[in-house]
Amino acid sequence: MAELTPDRVRAALRSVLFPGFQRDIVQLGMLGDVVIENGTVRVPLRPGTAKPEILRQLTAEIEAVLGREPGVAKVDVRLARAEESARRDPWAARAALPGVARIIAVASTKGGVGKSTVAVNLALALAARGQRVGLMDADVYGPSLPIMLGTEERPSVTPSRRIHPVQRYGIACMSMGFFLDEGSPVIWRGPIVMGIVRQFLRDVEWGALDCLIVDMPPGTGDAQLTLVQQVPVTGGVIVTTPQDVALLDVGRGMAMFAQVNTPVLGVVENMSGYVCPRCETFDPIFGEGGARGLAERFGVPLLASIPLVPAVREGGDGGRPVVLADPDGPVSRLFQQLAQRVMAAVDQLAEQAPAASPPS
Ligand SMILES: Nc1ncnc2c1ncn2[C@@H]1O[C@H](COP(=O)(O)OP(=O)(O)OP(=O)(O)O)[C@@H](O)[C@H]1O
Ligand SMILES: [Mg+2]
Repeated sequence: MAELTPDRVRAALRSVLFPGFQRDIVQLGMLGDVVIENGTVRVPLRPGTAKPEILRQLTAEIEAVLGREPGVAKVDVRLARAEESARRDPWAARAALPGVARIIAVASTKGGVGKSTVAVNLALALAARGQRVGLMDADVYGPSLPIMLGTEERPSVTPSRRIHPVQRYGIACMSMGFFLDEGSPVIWRGPIVMGIVRQFLRDVEWGALDCLIVDMPPGTGDAQLTLVQQVPVTGGVIVTTPQDVALLDVGRGMAMFAQVNTPVLGVVENMSGYVCPRCETFDPIFGEGGARGLAERFGVPLLASIPLVPAVREGGDGGRPVVLADPDGPVSRLFQQLAQRVMAAVDQLAEQAPAASPPS
């Protein structure tokens, strides 16, 4: 039987994932120095959150995992005190982006539901309302902004490695796609997701922005985790399609935001029914009201229901999003309304928590 050592304990704890994420507590740097004394294993933990349900869940899981290890008589999980946790916690890198007033993440747990479409049109609709807007593509492996915005311009990089975003349609844009055609410049060496997302936040000269919209890849992976670890995200917008509404993975997306203390601003139901381009009749092919039910269940507002219309796809494929191509059309009006509601939801949050609250 292998001897019970701190290394073996660490290895075993690699199976304990932080609730809602696909990364474990060891990878996340939450585990302190393990001490073993006469079969008692002391596990110091800096969970980076004070949420009792998460602390309970982590403690129970650590006890269960180590309880299965031979030679373990007792498990003693020691949670770091709040102040110590704040000093060394995994969210320690979390600092606001200078000049950026708000960061809004557009996310979903499933792929292909229209996150990028919503992010782009929301960004442009906000800009049309006079806001200074940035748009960051956190989808490193499947970037879609260059096509959706119809630009192949490269961001310029200064000798001190500061990156200037591409200015397109009045918004500041950054995407891995801007770098992909000619291979990666030196700064992208080792293009791991977390490093790139961190660089997109920290090394980009975003300038003064009222709002940075972040187009997330699907799921709850490294990009999501890096974003919430690096910066205080003002709020999340969850995109869903009607047929997925009943599925719990939308709820999982909400749980993900909740567990990292990021408020969910609301839900966007996309591809909700079909509007015939010839006769303009609306056909709710997937049934109506799914997202509304979901919003009621989770206590977040339904921000918009965007129908499936060819103009949306054509706008995205053609590099001129529908809110620009047809600003007075019915779908554009829905995106404009979405922008207004997102801002209202953000303002409401600000009223609820006027002081900058540290991550608890
Ligand atoms: N309301 C809509 N009407 C018509 N087509 C749409 C609509 N919303 C999105 N699409 C189209 O559906 C496809 C997928 O959309 P999009 O790329 O925005 O999804 P996504 O959630 O960002 O996908 P991924 O998970 O791959 O990042 C695109 O071709 C887009 O143009
Ligand atoms: Mg996308």
